[in-house]
Amino acid sequence: MATDRPKLRSQGWFAQPTYESLTHRAAIRAEGFTPEVFQNRPVIGICNSWSELNHCNLHLRTVAEAVKRGVWAAGGFPLEFPTISLGEIYMKPTTMLYRNLMAMDVEESIRANPLDGVVLLCGCDKTTPAQIMGAASADLPAIMVTGGPQLNGRWGDKEIGAGTDGRKLYDLYRTGRIDDEQLCEIEGGIYRSAGHCNVMGTASTMTSLAEALGMTLPGCASIPAPDSRRQAMAEQSGRRIVEAVWEDLRPSRILTRAALENAITVDMALGGSTNAVVHLIAIAGRLGIDLKLAEFDVISRRTPFLANVKPSGQYLMEDFFYAGGLPALMKEILPLLHGGALTITGKTVAENVTTAVCHNREVIRAASHPLHPEGGTVVLHGNLAPHGAVLKQTAASAHLLQHRGKAYVFEDYQQMRAQIDSDDLPVEAGTVLVMKNCGPKGAPGFPEWGHIPMPRVLLNRGVADMVRISDARMSGTSFGTVVLHMAPESAIGGPLAVVETGDEISLDVAARRVELCVPAGEMERRLAAFRPAPPKYQRGYGKLFLDHIMQADQGCDFDFLRAVGTPAVDPAAVGTPK
Ligand code: FES
Repeated sequence: MATDRPKLRSQGWFAQPTYESLTHRAAIRAEGFTPEVFQNRPVIGICNSWSELNHCNLHLRTVAEAVKRGVWAAGGFPLEFPTISLGEIYMKPTTMLYRNLMAMDVEESIRANPLDGVVLLCGCDKTTPAQIMGAASADLPAIMVTGGPQLNGRWGDKEIGAGTDGRKLYDLYRTGRIDDEQLCEIEGGIYRSAGHCNVMGTASTMTSLAEALGMTLPGCASIPAPDSRRQAMAEQSGRRIVEAVWEDLRPSRILTRAALENAITVDMALGGSTNAVVHLIAIAGRLGIDLKLAEFDVISRRTPFLANVKPSGQYLMEDFFYAGGLPALMKEILPLLHGGALTITGKTVAENVTTAVCHNREVIRAASHPLHPEGGTVVLHGNLAPHGAVLKQTAASAHLLQHRGKAYVFEDYQQMRAQIDSDDLPVEAGTVLVMKNCGPKGAPGFPEWGHIPMPRVLLNRGVADMVRISDARMSGTSFGTVVLHMAPESAIGGPLAVVETGDEISLDVAARRVELCVPAGEMERRLAAFRPAPPKYQRGYGKLFLDHIMQADQGCDFDFLRAVGTPAVDPAAVGTPK
C-alpha cells in the first residue's frame, strides 16, 4: 500500500509550501516535464561516467536510456547526471590519482540533489570502486549497472586480449619479431568495441566484485558491452532501483563484512587483479569496517582458482560469459561464501545463484578440479614490506616463486624507462629488478608501473620473466613474477628506499616472505640516513592528495573520507620492520 511507503527524500525539494519548492518544480518543468512526474514518484539519479575520453565507457549513454525505460515502467522519474570519468588509457600520471576525487564527486552529487535512489554506470577500472565508495558514503538506495567487457580482440585468426596480449605482442615488436605493418593490424583489432578490457583485468575484476558484493543484478558483470542482453539488464536494473527505494534498501544494508568477504573470495576464484585489494579495503573503510590485508591471504589459501581467463588463464571475458559468467562461478564456490548475505535484488547471494549453470568446464572449472588450489593473489610480508605487499601467483612463473637473486635498482620510473632497453644493462635471468618511488606519495598517485618491462637484453636471450619488485601497482591485465604495493612505500622511508644494486633479495611465495638479505643492523643504518624528496605538489588537488592519501595496505583513500569511527590504522613507525 502506498500509505505504508517511506516518505520520499525528493519531496523535500518538490512538495513544500515554499518559494524554493516552486523554483524546484519550475526548474524540472523547464526541462519539458509535466508536474505529474515528480509528484510522489521516486526520483532516480543515473550517475553516468560516460566520456569520449574513456572508450571503455563510451556506450553508457545508450545504457542509461535503457535504465530510464525501466525506471519509468516501475513508476519512477529518472534524471541522468555526469561525473568525472576515469579512462585508464589517457589519464596521466594515473587514474588512481583521481579515484578518490571521483568518489567525492559521486558522493556529493548524490547527496546534494533531490534524489531518492541512484543507478551507477561504470566500466573502466577505477570508475567502479569510485562509484561504490561514493554511493556507500552517501547511503541512498543504489544499484550498479556495469558497462560490460569488450568483444574478444582479433588479429588474423588469433583471439587477443587487451593489455595481456598487447604487451606480449609489443615485446615481439621490440625485438624485431613483428613488423610495423603487423603492429598496425594489431592496433586495429585489439579493442573491437566499446566496453572495458576483455581479460580478467582490474575492470572485469571490479565489476565482478560489484556483483559479488550484491550491488548489481545477478549476471550483470559478464555480459559483453555490445550484447543486447546488457540493455535488457539495464532496463531491469532501472525497474529494480524503484522497488529498492520503496524498500529503503540502502548500501549500508548490503555492503557488510560478509559481503566484503564474499568479494574477496570471488576475487581469489577469479584470479582477479591485485588492484582489488586496494579498492576493497577502501570500500570497507567507507563503511567503518576494518578490513586487514592479512585477511586476503587467509581467504586466498582456502579458495581455489577457477576462472580460466587471461592473464592468469587462457580465455577472454566473452568466453567467460558464454560459460555461464559470474553466477556460475559463484555457485561453484557457494560453500565458501556467506550465502545469506543480502543483495540489491532483495534476495540472498545463495538465492541469486541457485539456478546458475556452467556451460563450459574448461573456462569455469569445478571446485574439485581447479586451475590452482589457492586463490590468485597472495600477501607477502618481510623486512622489505613490514606492512605488506601483494603478488598474483597465478600469473607468475612457477620457477620464480622461490628465488634469491641480486638486486638491480632503478631509483624511479624515469630512470627505468631510460635504461631498460640498454644493450649493456648488467642484468641476468636471476637478477631481481627493483624500482623505487612509485607508491601513493612517491609517483605521486600510485601508478600501474609495477610491471617493469623485461630488459631487451634478456628478451633477446629468450628470458620471458624475472622477479620484479616495486611499491607501484600493476595493471590487472599484466602478468609475471611481480611483487607490488610494497608498504610502507619508499618515498616516505619504507625499507624499499634503502635497497642498493648488488644486495641480495629473497622471495618465498609459499612462506609469504620477501626479504632484503643484509647483515643485522645494516637496514637500520641505511634507514637512519634516509631523507624524503620535497613534495611534488604545492597546491590544488595534488596537494590535497599528498596531505591525505593513505598507504596501499590501508586502501589509499583519503583519511578524512573514511567512515567516522572506522578503527585507526596501525600507526607503527614507518620503515621499522616488525
Ligand atoms: Fe578501460 Fe582497460 S582501459 S578497462
